[in-house]
Amino acid sequence: MAGYVTLSGWRCLRYEVALNGWKILKHTINDFSLWRLIEYPWVTRHLKLRRGDTVLDLGTGTSSYPHMLAREGVNVVVLELDRERVRWQQRKWQATARPGDARVLAVVADATALPIRDGAGRRISAISSLEHIPDDQAVGREIGRVLADDGVAVITLPYTRSERTHFFKGIKPFRRVARNAFVQEGKPGSFFRFYTDQDIQTTYVAPARAEVTAWRGFGRRILNGWYHETRRNRYWRRWVVKDWLLATLVHPLEEWLDRSDPLYVMFRLERRAGR
Ligand SMILES: C[S@@+](CC[C@H](N)C(=O)[O-])C[C@H]1O[C@@H](n2cnc3c(N)ncnc32)[C@H](O)[C@@H]1O
Repeated sequence: MAGYVTLSGWRCLRYEVALNGWKILKHTINDFSLWRLIEYPWVTRHLKLRRGDTVLDLGTGTSSYPHMLAREGVNVVVLELDRERVRWQQRKWQATARPGDARVLAVVADATALPIRDGAGRRISAISSLEHIPDDQAVGREIGRVLADDGVAVITLPYTRSERTHFFKGIKPFRRVARNAFVQEGKPGSFFRFYTDQDIQTTYVAPARAEVTAWRGFGRRILNGWYHETRRNRYWRRWVVKDWLLATLVHPLEEWLDRSDPLYVMFRLERRAGR
């Protein structure tokens, strides 16, 4: 895709070190880990970004992704519900922005009621965030409302082909609250949902009046079964260099060899003008 902004896993790692210091290599912070090393490059490539474009990022948390994009010349509007995380993003921007970077604007906003006018979003991303929002139907309608006629939205979500009856079994106490939806015991805000193809279609694709023009699964037998949901998971938040090796070597190999149920999917919605 000539002329579009790209971000390799290696570049993400280098940006994380530049933005957060060397400690990131030993102890991951702010959700940065294997999964983001797979998601950020894929999402960036499929957003079809040019320098000077603006991305609306839904549920950014304390991710460094907006600041990485800013260094690549792409403006980012961070739309995040948690006031503290929005402050964190503003402080991070003030502390790390360099002359020539594009802008990061962080605002408190609820993805179920976006403070954006109809059709104003040409590029929208939501990276491992929408699965935490119980009223995802409202989020789907809002993405459909703000997506521009030639707009692109790239979303990553937990996935299942049929049904998951447990989550983090034997590792964290998650309780099933609805089909494919879980809440961690004692943490009411910890809602988490897996999506089937049908859920993705009805919640995000149909309300956006868009086509799915790219789709990728990740986290199959090795990266899900052996790495994510096992007791070894206590090592999960350590040694980002290991995550980088898994993302760049094991992930492509797994996607090539293995057709099992992936733990996550990434997909691009494109609305063609006039639909
Ligand atoms: C797992 S974190 C996001 C990870 C991040 N996108 C990344 O790239 O690492 C999920 C975020 O969604 C935010 N969130 C939850 N409900 C939301 C809502 N209704 N509107 C906007 N953000 C929301 C949470 O506050 C949290 O920061």
